[in-house]
Amino acid sequence: MRGGEAVPQLGFGVFQIPPEVTEEAVILALEAGYRHLDTAAAYRNEAAVGQAVRASGLDRGEVFITTKCWNDDHGREEARRAFDRSLERLELDYLDLYLIHWPVPARERYVDTWRTFIELRDEGRVRSIGVSNFQASHLRRLIEETGEAPAINQVELHPHLQQVGLRREHGELGILTEAWSPLAQGQVLDEPAIVEIGERHARTPAQVVIRWHLQLANVVIPKSVTPERIRQNLDVFDFELSDAEMAAVNGLDQGRRIGPDPETFIRP
Ligand SMILES: NC(=O)c1ccc[n+]([C@@H]2O[C@H](COP(=O)([O-])OP(=O)(O)OC[C@H]3O[C@@H](n4cnc5c(N)ncnc54)[C@H](OP(=O)(O)O)[C@@H]3O)[C@@H](O)[C@H]2O)c1
Repeated sequence: MRGGEAVPQLGFGVFQIPPEVTEEAVILALEAGYRHLDTAAAYRNEAAVGQAVRASGLDRGEVFITTKCWNDDHGREEARRAFDRSLERLELDYLDLYLIHWPVPARERYVDTWRTFIELRDEGRVRSIGVSNFQASHLRRLIEETGEAPAINQVELHPHLQQVGLRREHGELGILTEAWSPLAQGQVLDEPAIVEIGERHARTPAQVVIRWHLQLANVVIPKSVTPERIRQNLDVFDFELSDAEMAAVNGLDQGRRIGPDPETFIRP
């Protein structure tokens, strides 16, 4: 990834996992073999993620850890303070990836935030810097005003919202695409085309969808608190979707979001 180390393509997301059960879920994920964790200040479970990494006995360098700067923390000084607080909660001395969680375009501060991100990266406190929920216009503005493109853009992306235009833009700008809510929080798992492909490969619908993401070259971070699903979602490296199967999933795009609109979202 631009300026940093390689990101494990399949990671573990912890959105909506309550803090008191996060440590257990992350330990299970690390035991299953995940080496990439995706949290955020807004998820209120950074401390438990840090605890789990230490409890796992793995070396810090073996786990790729991402967290995010929340919407109230845009700005030069605010973003630096937010970064310091996240590292304190995680009890880490560096991050692998730090993301601007949402652009909040109405506040006009994301370019300032990005300037602080560049400094943090140059100071060696974070290996790679990126954004989340940025539209093409926001990405272009960052690049025009600072000369620095994000390494990655984490956006809502699943078979019902395939982000074809944005993915093309990422390709042209050399930005990796990362898919959040990659299973559409379960809403795509009863799609007949996906169920049928799963039956053909003796795989679950979730495994088919994760495999589809991997073959599109998306970084993908499914979330589960269910031990069997945590393991199942990682068990996707020994089968392949054919071109016809990829095309069948591509045909399910409805341009339909389950999450907020990045142009207007400020807070829940
Ligand atoms: N940047 C952003 O703004 C943003 C926004 C949303 C999410 N994210 C990131 O993306 C990650 C994933 O997104 P998400 O948590 O919204 O949704 P998701 O991963 O698409 O779906 C999670 C849901 O699917 C279920 N599930 C997981 N594996 C399954 C399987 N194998 N079979 C059946 N059901 C399964 C889970 O249930 P159980 O847990 O009950 O097993 C949970 O209800 C988050 O954790 C977070 O890290 C980022």
